[in-house]
Amino acid sequence: SRAANGSGNPRDFVAKMKEGKKRIVIFYGSQTGTAEEYAIRLAKEAKQKFGLASLVCDPEEYDFDNLDQVPEDSCVFFVMATYGEGEPTDNAVTLCQNLSDDSFEFSNGEHKLPGLKYVVFGLGNKTYEHYNAIARNVDSDLAKMGAIRIGERGEGDDDKSMEEDYLEWKDGMWEEFARIMNVEEGQGGDTPDFVVTEVSEHPPEKVYLGELSARALTRSKGIHDAKNPYPAPITVARELFAPGSDRNCIHVELNTENSGITYQHGDHVGVWPTNAELEVERLLCALGLHDKKDTIINIESLDPALAKVPFPVPTTYVTVLRHYIDISAVAGRQILGVLSKFAPTPEAEAFLKNLNTNKEEYQNVVAHGCLKLGEVLQLAAGNDLHGAPTPENTTAWKIPFDIVVSSIPRLQPRYYSISSSPKLYPHSIHITCVVLKYESVENNHVKTRWVYGVGSNFLLNLKFACEGQEAPLIDSAEEPGKVVYPKYAIEGPRGAYKHETTYKVPIHVRRSTFRLPTNPKSPVIMVGPGTGVAPFRGFVQERVAMARRTIEKNGPEGLADWGSIRLYYGCRSSTKDFLYKDEWPEYAKELHGKFTLRTAFSRENFKPDGSKIYVQDLLWEDRETVADAILNGKGYVYICGDARNMSKAVEETLARILGEAKGGSAEVEGAAEVKLLKERSRFLTDVWS
Ligand code: 2AM
Repeated sequence: SRAANGSGNPRDFVAKMKEGKKRIVIFYGSQTGTAEEYAIRLAKEAKQKFGLASLVCDPEEYDFDNLDQVPEDSCVFFVMATYGEGEPTDNAVTLCQNLSDDSFEFSNGEHKLPGLKYVVFGLGNKTYEHYNAIARNVDSDLAKMGAIRIGERGEGDDDKSMEEDYLEWKDGMWEEFARIMNVEEGQGGDTPDFVVTEVSEHPPEKVYLGELSARALTRSKGIHDAKNPYPAPITVARELFAPGSDRNCIHVELNTENSGITYQHGDHVGVWPTNAELEVERLLCALGLHDKKDTIINIESLDPALAKVPFPVPTTYVTVLRHYIDISAVAGRQILGVLSKFAPTPEAEAFLKNLNTNKEEYQNVVAHGCLKLGEVLQLAAGNDLHGAPTPENTTAWKIPFDIVVSSIPRLQPRYYSISSSPKLYPHSIHITCVVLKYESVENNHVKTRWVYGVGSNFLLNLKFACEGQEAPLIDSAEEPGKVVYPKYAIEGPRGAYKHETTYKVPIHVRRSTFRLPTNPKSPVIMVGPGTGVAPFRGFVQERVAMARRTIEKNGPEGLADWGSIRLYYGCRSSTKDFLYKDEWPEYAKELHGKFTLRTAFSRENFKPDGSKIYVQDLLWEDRETVADAILNGKGYVYICGDARNMSKAVEETLARILGEAKGGSAEVEGAAEVKLLKERSRFLTDVWS
């Protein structure tokens, strides 16, 4: 018999809806928080448009056996991210199993969820296979059970156009929603989510100045995870590219001794950066908060079910901008519409409204111009956004801080593939990070400028600091040799990340399934150009550690039946950006002929027709060996690096190789073989775009 469903059961979402008089429940399948943000936005819009309150739920915290008891005047939203190779996010695994395991009809042929009203928005990435698979599955499972979708199924592409896809989808959905739910627009008000109060007195030791958890503030012990990152001391930070290079690639070693943190080869490490000081200053000025940046503020949620305060409080204005919210991202189109109401002049208001409604202008000026929110505000107010912002040269907008808090997402950790093996470095995590710096596209409002990646430039700052140096001058498009690297406040809250000449970085480890086969007899093919080589350094180290143990016991003959491991590595030149050039021969020596490194130097060696030689060309050259390793040796294939072009090209080459070896084509036999490898987890990718 069914468990009692009364309001006593905290896992009963229907009871909660009824209690809170909520006609909408929104479930989000979220890994990094993006789907949760969209879930909250949908809830806010329902309130603003129709005055309807929603219950926003982490599906992990609820049971689903009473989906059939959702009241008839109510509606269930599913905001579902697809993760990895078409998998649900961790918090949605049970939900998805529940929906798909169920037979869709009762034995008497009746639907299980007749007439249940639902909405689906999926978050996926087109560079991966199985685009938005989870949202599509949820949709079809519900339909099979007789539920009725409101509007179209929304699908957002994280690679290119998540925001645009969402905006394009939601209006039509809300129209249908109003019709089917029998509600009218204009019933809601512009209700704020938070109340921000300035606090005149508060025990200073209880004010968060950038600490990422309560434990960090009270300096008490506890386990370290994503909710309580560990400040890891940097033991090594050095440049990997040759001197004189116009790009940087940083090697960082972090000490995790006594932290309780463990890792495996192939795992990711999350680094919690801060925003660059220039951007913090810019937004402080544009919000008119420069004079009171250290004022203590408390923030309360007006509806904790709808919107949690996204960072710890009480805190200060400057702390929020420096540590807690993502002010370095390109400004979103929707927020510009919201902020236009607070413009200091009619011209500024018109400027923002135009960017908000005119998609093409938004693309040209903001998206391609890579303008951050602070820069858009400066531009709209007619300020010069080149050079250092000050209260004198930057117009102050009267934007309520609660709007800033509810419309700018939380600053997220940046994930890097760990480039070491715990078998060689049990107490140390290595990061290999190329420093992101590119030029924005010029438009009729702004010249070309340098755009700097938040996480990688944070690490670059730390590297300079460890060397006791100021960030050096670099070339700038506007003033050659005049602009410095963006500076960060790397000492951390209350100087917690600085100890004499060493620095610490807050980190946590995220597990992955990117792993070597446990049996060393299986041959391995690794493809990792550029910083895609990072996890493979860990893989090779893993095998080196194993080889040492084997040799100790049985001598080098112990390796005789090991499979070969082959690394396909590519970079621009053999002398400038060849990562870990000196280490590979050492590893090869210890692996006694079982390790082969193949290199493609794309700006050094060319094909007869003048085109570049890439890793996939080397794979093709080695096709006999590669096909033999995979088909006869039951080998494993790994790709790491750029998802947009490289990994696709490599996969195509692999299909060609396997197709040919099978006496068929790349499209049929080759593709089937690749699919099989993936299903058997013998073809794994760790790619990013
Ligand atoms: P390129 O910059 O000379 O074009 C690491 O970035 C290496 O990957 C570089 O040698 C780079 O070459 C190369 N690369 C760029 N695009 C690639 C692609 N589509 N496939 C494989 N390698 C690529």
